[in-house]
Amino acid sequence: MTSHPSCVSTGHLPDPARVCALLDEAHARFTPDRTGRNADYIPALAHVPDHRFGICLAGVSGACYGVGDTEVGFTIQSISKPFVFGLICQAIGEDEARRLLGVNSTGLPFNSVVAVERSGDGLTNPMVNAGAIAATSLAPGETAEAKWRFVQDGLSRFAGRALRLDEEVYRSEAGANRRNAGIASLLHSYQRIYFDPLEATDVYTRQCALEVTARDLAVMAATLANGGVNPVTREAVIDAVHCQHVLAVMVTAGLYESSGDWLYATGLPGKSGVSGGMITVSPGKGGLATFAPPLDDAGNSVKGQLTARFLSEQLGLNLFASQPAAGPGEDP
Ligand code: DON
Repeated sequence: MTSHPSCVSTGHLPDPARVCALLDEAHARFTPDRTGRNADYIPALAHVPDHRFGICLAGVSGACYGVGDTEVGFTIQSISKPFVFGLICQAIGEDEARRLLGVNSTGLPFNSVVAVERSGDGLTNPMVNAGAIAATSLAPGETAEAKWRFVQDGLSRFAGRALRLDEEVYRSEAGANRRNAGIASLLHSYQRIYFDPLEATDVYTRQCALEVTARDLAVMAATLANGGVNPVTREAVIDAVHCQHVLAVMVTAGLYESSGDWLYATGLPGKSGVSGGMITVSPGKGGLATFAPPLDDAGNSVKGQLTARFLSEQLGLNLFASQPAAGPGEDP
């Protein structure tokens, strides 16, 4: 189903000078914050320098604005999930993707086993590990290698450059991956994984270990803001209608059990990752990305959340914001 062309989020980012000034202000304001701590259940993430802080905003025009550590590489982790979901919607259709994966929030942590059990039918959503491993299992291809190529190529097209695997982080997580392997086996018992569970878990683990920068993530987020067309390369990565569905699931589940707090604060779809990355999508305007490793208890970057809230307010991005109409019976 396609939307009428006029049924899209409207408005523009403020002028470039104001955007740059606000990014600088956010960086200066939140740099001193020392709350949160690096994820350590993936051993290689524990020793990433925790002072790293980058902010990048990519507009749907393709213009990019950045401050701080915007070119430092880190692993994409859970921020891969919305993009893989978009690629799966494109490959098998949005209705089939919903039927096979589910789209309702679990209200539980990202690696919850209980979420699968409690659902009754093994369905969660593609933003938590269970639904994301199931989504990866649906990647086209008969072999794990073919599925991996599909995922790596698709995420690279969102970024506009070839993304490479961080071998150290991949091996570190693969060596400590019992929980995800358990989740995949449980999905198997519900017939809710669509490839060999251990092989699907391995492809998912590789997907999470792709190296990106804050700039890459901003361009990827801006592609979701731009009807699926990468605003820098101009490549159509997924159809506009699939972007809408990806953003809907990000709104309800992108920050797991704290998705309500996030939406209340920003009014925008967002997605976090345990390496400290975070994206925020402003449909029709652009994509914001941050990198700052210290996380809160739910596994979301502390500085990332502070920055997204500040910039959503200051740049006028909140999707729920409105102003009183000009007069009785008149539309603004
Ligand atoms: O599967 C995992 O546990 C990690 N590869 C990704 C989790 C993650 O990024 C959760 N994010 N906030």
